[in-house]
Amino acid sequence: APPRKKTTIQSLHRQRTPISVLTAYDYPTARACSAHPVDITLVGDSLAQVALGLPATTALTLDQLIHHARAVARGTTSPLLVADMPFGTYYTGARDAVRAAVRIVREGAAEAVKLEGGAEVADTVRALTAVGIPVMAHVGLLPQRHTALSGYRVQGRTAATARPILHAALALQDAGAFAVVLEAVPAPLATYITHRLSVPTIGIGAGSGTSGQVLVWDDVMGTWEGHKAKFVRRFADVGAEVARGVRGFVGAVSDGSFPDAKESYGMDEGEWERLLEM
Ligand code: KIV
Ligand code: NA
Repeated sequence: APPRKKTTIQSLHRQRTPISVLTAYDYPTARACSAHPVDITLVGDSLAQVALGLPATTALTLDQLIHHARAVARGTTSPLLVADMPFGTYYTGARDAVRAAVRIVREGAAEAVKLEGGAEVADTVRALTAVGIPVMAHVGLLPQRHTALSGYRVQGRTAATARPILHAALALQDAGAFAVVLEAVPAPLATYITHRLSVPTIGIGAGSGTSGQVLVWDDVMGTWEGHKAKFVRRFADVGAEVARGVRGFVGAVSDGSFPDAKESYGMDEGEWERLLEM
């Protein structure tokens, strides 16, 4: 694929064209993101919950992330392919972070990585961008810290908690991040941060004033049965179609209506008779 995709994101931002980002965890999903092109396909660590049935993103390993990223990469053409750095792979210093990110790029075939955190990860962002790995930052609600945050809730509703989020976004931009995800923050704060930054912001639960929007695939498609956050909009009801498909198959097997003659292979009359004579 031509190495011009990060530039594409920057020019979309310059033209004030909203940037669309969808998560993908496997090959067919990646194909859909490429065929009806989104701008960025994100192998989010949300795959822990929605694709692997794990309790939280903190349970996801680097090997699991790479396995899925590689499948997504096989189906990705036009979108920029970004993959999350899993919990625990980038806190122990820039060397470890570079080592993990290099695996995500080389083995997972991602074109950029995303990591959660504020000023405390700025040096890591600097180290990754210095070796040519584009970094998407992620501030506001940080799912990898759900235990410390006592759950998944909106961040920065007071001036005292909003200010560190703004400062984090500015520090990460200075460190070289090419975009900043703003998760579950008040819309006015997200709009203000977007005005203060020169790189694009990608919102999730951050209102309409960001440079782009990201949602989790299963939330968009209506295949996630768990908690539905306030900021989720279901754009399709694939879950209902899946239920129809499974019920239909089981019913037709039970009553013998599947397969019918058209769905079966025949045999020449002469061959059949020869078989019976054997
Ligand atoms: O893991 C994920 O899906 C994400 C996006 C929702 C931003 O980080
Ligand atoms: Na994530």
